[in-house]
This record gives sequence, C-alpha cells and structure tokens, in this order.
Amino acid sequence: MKDILHELESRRERARLGGGENRVDAQHGKGKLTARERIELLLDEGSFEEFDMFVSHRCTDFGMDKNRPAGDGVVTGWGTINGRMVYVFSQDFTVLGGSVSATHAQKICKIMDMAMQNGAPVIGLNDSGGARIQEGVDSLAGYGEVFQRNIMASGVVPQISLIMGPCAGGAVYSPAMTDFIFMVKDSSYMFVTGPDVVKTVTNEQVTAEELGGASTHTKKSSVADGAFENDVEALAEVRRLVDFLPLNNREKPPVRPFFDDVNRVEPSLDTLVPDNPNMPYDMKELILKIADEGDFYEIQEDFAKNIVTGFIRLEGQTVGVVANQPLVLAGVLDIDSARKAARFVRFCDAFEIPILTLVDVPGFLPGTGQEYRGVIKHGAKLLFAYGEATVPKVTVITRKAYGGAYVVMASKHLRADVNYAWPTSEIAVMGAKGATEIIHRADLDDPEKIAAHTAQYETRFANPFVAAERGFIDEVIQPRSTRRRVARAFAALRGKRVTNPWKKHDNIPL
Ligand code: HXC
Repeated sequence: MKDILHELESRRERARLGGGENRVDAQHGKGKLTARERIELLLDEGSFEEFDMFVSHRCTDFGMDKNRPAGDGVVTGWGTINGRMVYVFSQDFTVLGGSVSATHAQKICKIMDMAMQNGAPVIGLNDSGGARIQEGVDSLAGYGEVFQRNIMASGVVPQISLIMGPCAGGAVYSPAMTDFIFMVKDSSYMFVTGPDVVKTVTNEQVTAEELGGASTHTKKSSVADGAFENDVEALAEVRRLVDFLPLNNREKPPVRPFFDDVNRVEPSLDTLVPDNPNMPYDMKELILKIADEGDFYEIQEDFAKNIVTGFIRLEGQTVGVVANQPLVLAGVLDIDSARKAARFVRFCDAFEIPILTLVDVPGFLPGTGQEYRGVIKHGAKLLFAYGEATVPKVTVITRKAYGGAYVVMASKHLRADVNYAWPTSEIAVMGAKGATEIIHRADLDDPEKIAAHTAQYETRFANPFVAAERGFIDEVIQPRSTRRRVARAFAALRGKRVTNPWKKHDNIPL
C-alpha cells in the first residue's frame, strides 16, 4: 500500500513540474507566472480541486509518442473565489507551448460542461501556441468543441477570459465568445493572423504588439474589456469582478456587507452641472458618489470614452451602470459607444443585474463617417438592448436628453421602471439653437428675433417639467439626494417580474 501511495505522490509531483525547471525559468524570465501559480493567485488558498492531472495526448505522429507529458498543457478544475465556486482552466505554456490537442480540448470541455450543469462561472487563463500542429484536424475539432460550449454557456454562466500569453489564429474565437476579455500588458497578444502573414498578404509591416497587444485591443478594436500591468494584478482584478457577478442566470448577484449610509447626501452634486450648458463635467464623479463606498468596476475604460459602463453596488447589491460622459465628445452617442453599451446592457439583463442609466446626451454624432459605417444599425443595438431588458431599470437625466438619444437611453418608453430628472434637465428634440434655426428659418438674418425665439424655446423645453407633466419623468429630484432616491427605487424593484413574448430568439441588428 505504501508503495502505491508513493507512486501516486511521485506521479503528482512529476505532473506539477509542468515542462520542467528550464521552461518554468523561461516563463518567469518573460515576466509570466506558470499555469499553477496563476491558479493559486486566482482562487482562495487551498480551494483548488484539480481534474485530469494525468491525461496525456494520444498522438503518435512526428515522434510525439515519446513525449507525453501528464496534463497535456492545461491545468483544469474548480475552486472558490471569496467562497463562491468557479471552474477554471489554465494553459501551461511550459508544456508543448500550451498548444491545444484533442485531449487538451477535452479537458477544457469537461469543466465547461460541469460549469453549465452546476451553475458556476468559467474562467479561462489563455497562454498557448494555438492548435497542436502535430495533431492536425484533431486539434481543430477540439477547438470546435470548445467553441460550441462557449456558445451554449453564453447567458447561462458568466465566462471570463484572461489572455496571458499568445492567443492567435482561430484560437481567439473562444475568448471572443466569452463575456469579458482581459489582457496583460506587454506579455499577451491576440490576432487572427500574425505579423508574418499580414506582411505577406497586405505588405503591412507591424509588430505583434501593434497588431494585437493590450493597447490595441483596449483602445482601438474593443476586443478586450481591460488590460493590467502584470499577471498578479490581472488575477486580483478578476477576483474583484467575480465578486460583482451571480454564479449563473438563475441566481441573484451576491449581496455584500456594506458600510455606507444609503441616505448619504452629497451637496456637491447640486453644483456638478455647470451653468453653461456647453461646459463639460465628469459623469464619473456622479457614479462614485452614488456607489457604495465609491467602488466602481469599470468595463472598457479605454474605449468609446463618451459612454461609461461598469458595476457598482447599492445597499451591497450589484448594479450595472451606463452613463453618457460629457467630458468626451460632449457625451454624444456614436457607433462605438452604442456597441459598447449595448453589449453591457445585454450582459446585465442575461444575468439579472439591475441597470442604472445616467443621461446627459446631445444626440447621435452626425456625419458621413458614422452613416457610412452604419450608425443606424449600431445605434439600434443599444435601443434594442434596453427595450428587451427585463431587469429593474432606473434612469436619471442630469442635463441634456435630446432627440432619439433621449428615447434610447432607458427612457420610460423602453419600459424603464423609474425615471428621475435633475432640475437642470433639458428634454427636447434638440438644443434651443438648432431648433430655432430650423423652425424660424425665415428670421435667420435678424439676430434679435433669433435670440428671442431661442429664449422662448429654452423657457418652453430646456427643463424636465414638460416630460414630468406627461409622466415620462416620475419625479424631478435634488441632485444631492440621488444615491438615496436611486437605491430606494432599486429596493422597490426587487420583486420585479416581466417576461417578453415567447420567441426562439430575437433578431437584434448586428
Ligand atoms: C505544437 C508548439 C506550438 C504548436 C508552440 N509549440 N506552439 N507545439 N503546436 N502550435 C512548442 C514549440 O515547438 C516549443 O517546443 C515550445 O512550444 C515553446 O515554443 P517557442 O516557439 O520556443 O516559444 P516562443 O519563442 O515564446 O514562441 C511562442 C510562439 C511560437 C510565438 C507561440 O511557438 C509559435 O509561433 N508557435 C506556433 C503558432 C501557430 O502557428 N499556431 C497555430 C495557429 S493556428 P520546444 O520543444 O521546441 O521547446 C491555430 C488555429 C486554431 O491555432 C483554429 C481553431 C479553429
């Protein structure tokens, strides 16, 4: 018996060594942690239960039968994050470059199946040379099986991808179908075709970093939702994000203890909106002053900054926030901001996370640049997402709510539950100047008349009361009391139950 136990321990020991000391040193030399070190940092201490430690590949071509490392380049299993269950796979670059064989893919599929069955998130730590070249189509088939599970799990359990090394070719499509992608700066990249192929096909010369590094994907392509300085920070931030999320689509998000008075009044908010309607202000100040303990987890911070998305807690409960940002492009809606916010709204709705919308929007961005790229379809995504969402929806208009953008931004007409406006709100088809120039075109040569018309329009429409008279705004509130009003509104909506008509699925404009 002793020998048998010893044999088990020595097999485990060998498996834990991964690709051996030299390769582990090389991994550390690149500033990267190993697959197991990453899991240790991601999960609560001692909580990891590993599966399939002894799985090895079945390939016999190209001398592979003499190189069958235990685990086959990926560490899989489950553990807890602050006591809540998650499934995890962590690709081991020290073993055959973390490349994906049929058996490597089967290990990932096994934990994805379990996650869907048992209702817990899947976190993928990606660090791989891609399809195991020696296995050919078997490897591609393995990827296909993973993709299919990404699709089936979407909207059932949260899926989070951390890109911590190479992620190239078709391999990028598994993370692409997960809910959130985070990258590590300077040590990770994602692209469909690498710099060499790009050079051959298009004659463009570009580095891997420029083509698919963290900066590219957080600022330009919006493929990634965030980037972190190193592995340690990235894993800590994923732990923080998981704390905001429910384990699956049948559960509510966790309720955390909170130490922030829900009746906290913020007198400074009374002067947040400047007297001059053309002056910007920072909408994030309002978000931080509403949130429990000022804690805000921003998603896609570096992309389409004219809209802000992320998670806060109110009375310890997760709330998704979508807010126009007057500091950037005057908070206008455009293709990028509409896509960014629509995806966020849909995530919240899929996982029963209530949505708070903060509105200061002068309209949609005009111009051929937008129209030629399809702002009609992309803007409709956000409209559609808000309209189909059945989670509690609370909206606060702080200043401008003009035209179509007024309707899009979680207006009463899209089934928002509670719509508040600050006294500084202007709810109208457009700003006073533009409106006057259209409806009083005949007086355009007479500045005095135009000024009088503009003043008249402002008095009539540059306020929240016309909308309030019609019940489109439930109440005009003091800015200082926004936290209390919003928290009470969400508290009143905890029992909300709304269902949409049966359909196979909708046909959101893509
Ligand atoms: C088999 C691989 C491998 C792969 C790396 N290795 N990628 N083995 N299949 N795809 C092995 C290497 O042979 C090497 O083994 C070890 O992993 C470490 O790799 P290095 O090249 O020494 O590391 P590094 O210099 O850091 O370069 C990393 C790399 C490079 C840029 C990822 O390895 C590389 O270009 N690999 C091939 C990438 C690729 O073309 N993959 C297919 C993409 S298409 P030894 O024993 O020599 O140390 C794809 C399609 C998916 O993935 C389709 C889904 C539908």
